[in-house]
Amino acid sequence: MDRRCRNDPPLESICAVNARQMQRSFLNQASSSAFTSAAWWQSGVIYQIYPRSFQDSNGDGIGDLNGIAARLDYLKDLGVDAIWISPIFPSPMADFGYDVSDYCGIDPMFGTMDDFDRLLVAVHRAGLKLLLDFVPNHTSDLHPWFLESRSCRTNPRRDWYIWRDPAPGGGPPNNWLSEFGGPAWTLDETTGQYYYHAYLKEQPDLNWRNAGVSAAMLDVLRFWFERGVDGFRVDAIHHLFEDIGLRSNPHDPDWREGMSPARRLIRRYTMDQPEVHDAIAAMRRVAEEFGGRLLVGESSLPIDRLMAYYGTNLSGFQLPFNFHLINTAWRTEAIAGLIQSYEAALPARAWPNWVLGNHDRSRVASRIGREQARVAAMLLLTLRGTPTIYQGEELGMLDVTIPPELVQDPWEKNVPGIGLGRDPERTPMPWSGAIHGGFTTATPWLPVDTVTMPNVERQQSDPASFLSLYRALLRLRRSEPALSIGSYREIARTDAVLAYERQHSGNCLQIVLNLSATPQRLPDAVTDGRLLLSTTRRKTERPPRAHLEANQGIILATEFGQARHDQARSNR
Ligand code: NOJ
Repeated sequence: MDRRCRNDPPLESICAVNARQMQRSFLNQASSSAFTSAAWWQSGVIYQIYPRSFQDSNGDGIGDLNGIAARLDYLKDLGVDAIWISPIFPSPMADFGYDVSDYCGIDPMFGTMDDFDRLLVAVHRAGLKLLLDFVPNHTSDLHPWFLESRSCRTNPRRDWYIWRDPAPGGGPPNNWLSEFGGPAWTLDETTGQYYYHAYLKEQPDLNWRNAGVSAAMLDVLRFWFERGVDGFRVDAIHHLFEDIGLRSNPHDPDWREGMSPARRLIRRYTMDQPEVHDAIAAMRRVAEEFGGRLLVGESSLPIDRLMAYYGTNLSGFQLPFNFHLINTAWRTEAIAGLIQSYEAALPARAWPNWVLGNHDRSRVASRIGREQARVAAMLLLTLRGTPTIYQGEELGMLDVTIPPELVQDPWEKNVPGIGLGRDPERTPMPWSGAIHGGFTTATPWLPVDTVTMPNVERQQSDPASFLSLYRALLRLRRSEPALSIGSYREIARTDAVLAYERQHSGNCLQIVLNLSATPQRLPDAVTDGRLLLSTTRRKTERPPRAHLEANQGIILATEFGQARHDQARSNR
């Protein structure tokens, strides 16, 4: 008999207090030894820092490494396990750091190598892990390798990039398009050849078929691993190779006005080519040279293709990013179906992961509304698999409309006015009521939303805030192996409600999410358990037991034995 089914607490304490009580009482049972078989990146939670927008420490309007260091207590209190910092390397910033001109340095805008080393020590001292961003697909056009490569056709580094003659009648070698608008080929007048770039012309693609390139890039990983970083998020991995025969991509009949111009073509010959898996395996071997550091792949692919990025016998990424929550319609049937097909597709022993937002996608609170974003937070932090939280989602941040004269994102500049720009989700963190939200004392590089957005200081003292909800969820997840490493089983779905259970070693939790703005009946399959946490906070008495409020998600500790556990899945 599970003790959690007795003595239901009053609903008013649901957010923070229950999570604390749980920690002290019965969840002590879930001894820390329950976690010992899981790697930190399986039981842990990753937090993405977009460094330009996290915290400015030197008054130039742009976030930096010392700013991150100054906010480590915040991250520790939040309850995440690792931070991934988007690129901090020297860069002309054509794509805000995703155009690297020196893989083994720190851009002065962000600080110095000493600042980095100090940050790394502080991160580790705080008991956190630090992941950097590895950008293997392309360099900056100002990287010394490219400057050499473009200098003449016979330069030894010519083949480090993808150079081709014009098509027989003149013009680019084929029809390939840049992700950020326009052709993916740019003519170099001096040498009379085109170079390929999946993104901006300032981001020429490296030629990973050249052994010198792969060796040099693997050494970049070694450089940072030797310094002590715990892993990498690997950028744009699906773009690493292109068809060697340079076949033109077919047209996509489903393309419509208003969609990205790059989507006019199906990227059959420019994405997800078979050679990529050998390159990933080589990266993984380097990670293993350092005792199994973490590699997370930015792999924007359908589920069936995504699974290959775990590699044969899991020799690929430990975590190929799963972005499907971002793309899936916010409806029970669609979300439940996604979880089901993702879980079913996972190779044996592969570890799942979930992403709700990042610096490239509209913020979740703007996509589905603030009320449902709280439900989404509960979903993200109670699904089986490693969650990644994008900075500011824990505050319920919204996209910020950027007036044309303040636009920064090159994609928006190239293809204006159809909503492709990524500035709205990249605006700085609002920390306090100080000028510019305490982010900077100068004019921030993008405006800080100090109008619609309750800042960190205010949210910290409000038990009903987004931040309090995230903290409670993270605390519960940390203390309850059923949530971090337990099995997953759907128990009910209706038009508006999704219910599932997570189970580990005798503890069973049920998560029930109302994905609608109207009250709903609790599905019959949900047992009458003890309420541990709710996305809504009420000062009133308990609502009718059999109901979920509008936009409410709850976590119940249920009677063990009522659930039919799928132990096998948790051991996969
Ligand atoms: C994916 C990154 O997340 C995005 O911000 C960047 O523009 C492209 N890759 C190119 O590096």
